[in-house]
Amino acid sequence: MTHMWSEILEQPEVLKRCIESNEKTILSIVEAIKARNIDSVVIAARGTSDYAGTYAKYIIESVIGIPVALAAPSIYTVYGKKLKLGNSLVIGISQSGKAADVLEVIKGANESKALTLSITNDRESPLARQAQYHLFCDAGVEKSVAATKTFTSEMMLAAQLVAQWSEDGQIKNQLSGVPVNLSKVFEQEKDIINKVQRYRFISECFVLSRGINYPVALETALKFQETCYVRARAYATSDFYHGPFAMLDKDMLAVIYAPNGPSQKDEIEMINKIKESGAEVLIVSNNKELLESGNCTFEIPQTDNDMISPFYNVVIAQMLACRLSLCKGLNPDAPRGLNKVTITK
Ligand code: AGP
Repeated sequence: MTHMWSEILEQPEVLKRCIESNEKTILSIVEAIKARNIDSVVIAARGTSDYAGTYAKYIIESVIGIPVALAAPSIYTVYGKKLKLGNSLVIGISQSGKAADVLEVIKGANESKALTLSITNDRESPLARQAQYHLFCDAGVEKSVAATKTFTSEMMLAAQLVAQWSEDGQIKNQLSGVPVNLSKVFEQEKDIINKVQRYRFISECFVLSRGINYPVALETALKFQETCYVRARAYATSDFYHGPFAMLDKDMLAVIYAPNGPSQKDEIEMINKIKESGAEVLIVSNNKELLESGNCTFEIPQTDNDMISPFYNVVIAQMLACRLSLCKGLNPDAPRGLNKVTITK
């Protein structure tokens, strides 16, 4: 069994553990946020962690209602500028905790008296020690270069922070159901192994989704790129209309996430347009009708909360990428030209 597959299967335990082991810290962070009357957030991260940051952006803006910027670390590292972030919460996300350019953003934010928080999978890492507060993924060592369990634990910690910050007990309850429901997603293992064969010769594809699930489309594309060497491009469904749609033709695969919830009507419209183009459409949803309408479909557990469906959608993507990589005769744990820790300055 590959490290990637065994780490995918660890996620229910990892998510339960990271919720429990960070409860106290989240209470003190929210206390500091309210005491400082924080009115904006800046998030710095790279690769898969950047997509956990993008998820955090969508849930903070949609639930708390304050603006979130995704940082450009080169402002610090290339242009030597320090942003005025006095009244912001600045979050650095990195499973290794060794992302050098992310560290520079947190150092600069500390100097400008911002409130700083890091999310890592290593309590002793430079990023964990640099920020005023640290949330621990508690995922155990991640051996596969392809990040899986650290992505969902980074997302879960951001969601737990928002649930506490908004004092929304319903969000907290729904999040606590995610680890149990994830096991249901694993029941599709055989289905995924059988159906992925159909795509063993693809060299490119599109991945589409809207709103809070857009970061899942980004992460899916990255997993296909690094484990299967497929030139996968992710788009917000809305953006796809503004030009990229023209690239679709009958030999193209489009993966689309269409969970029950506020963004589904836009996905249905796009699915119909993709079908008209003759392209192949793979649908991930919990809507029975949609699950009968794709060339290939995968079902996720019932929820109509767009904060919750990303956890199920991304695990389907992880399983698909891992199995497609093996199907192509590749090793998802050791992609060519990549290391587990990548340092960019
Ligand atoms: C993810 O599968 C990749 N290995 C890569 O994009 C990774 O997420 C990125 O290098 C960031 O790593 P970090 O979380 O340790 O900072």
